[in-house]
Amino acid sequence: MKITLIHGQNHKGSTYHIGKLLAEQFGDSDIQEFFLPKDLEHFCMGCYQCIENEEKCPFYNEKNRIMQAIEAADLLIFTTPTYCMRASASMKAFMDLTFTYWMSHKPRKCMFSKKAVVISTAAGTGTKSAIKDITNTLFYWGVPYIKEYGIAVQAMGWEQISDKKKKKIKEDITKLARKLQKEKVHVGTKTRFMFHMMRMMQLNNWGASKVEKDYWKQNGWLDKERPWK
Ligand SMILES: Cc1cc2nc3c(=O)[nH]c(=O)nc-3n(C[C@H](O)[C@H](O)[C@H](O)COP(=O)(O)O)c2cc1C
Repeated sequence: MKITLIHGQNHKGSTYHIGKLLAEQFGDSDIQEFFLPKDLEHFCMGCYQCIENEEKCPFYNEKNRIMQAIEAADLLIFTTPTYCMRASASMKAFMDLTFTYWMSHKPRKCMFSKKAVVISTAAGTGTKSAIKDITNTLFYWGVPYIKEYGIAVQAMGWEQISDKKKKKIKEDITKLARKLQKEKVHVGTKTRFMFHMMRMMQLNNWGASKVEKDYWKQNGWLDKERPWK
């Protein structure tokens, strides 16, 4: 199994440890990890070069290294500490830089068969909205199977978490891993509906560019083909 972890932080705190704990449940896996902002320290500049040619993004090389690992993975694990009730700014910056992967632009076929888990920790509250920032992007990338794990740790780092809470985290993560191994990916109604809406948009020339419409056409999605089986 290929696993790609995207950490919305450079440091190895509570959120990182939970993500790592989950990845380790899958035995002899091929694991790739990226830390933000260390591995992509840029913000989208709104130049729209990517609409015509994604390679023209000023940060294409750094971004592509991460996206190649994401495209190759069976399981994606995203981690972010909750910052001011949301995902970290570096995670948001990364997601902005991947907006051409959205169904409204050039969705990738491989996304429609992936599993993903989004993990966030908070001292007290806010994991739900922090996780939502990421699950929203994953949904629009076309990822059909997304699980969430949010927990209030009452701590500023992994070492500060009580033994009782760590035990609970380990149990939760073991359970989650079992579920991930057992359950099959199914492309649900919401994803199918959104894809259909975006297809209509391309058919009616309401998309962002002719390049994007041609991409949809080449994939056969303006005809009968779909990115899922
Ligand atoms: C900039 C910043 C903002 C934070 N905002 C929140 C928040 O909105 N809600 C909360 O409960 N904790 C908040 N915290 C605490 C962290 O979410 C919490 O300590 C988390 O477990 C840290 O994860 P880490 O160990 O992976 O860095 C914030 C911490 C920082 C540094």
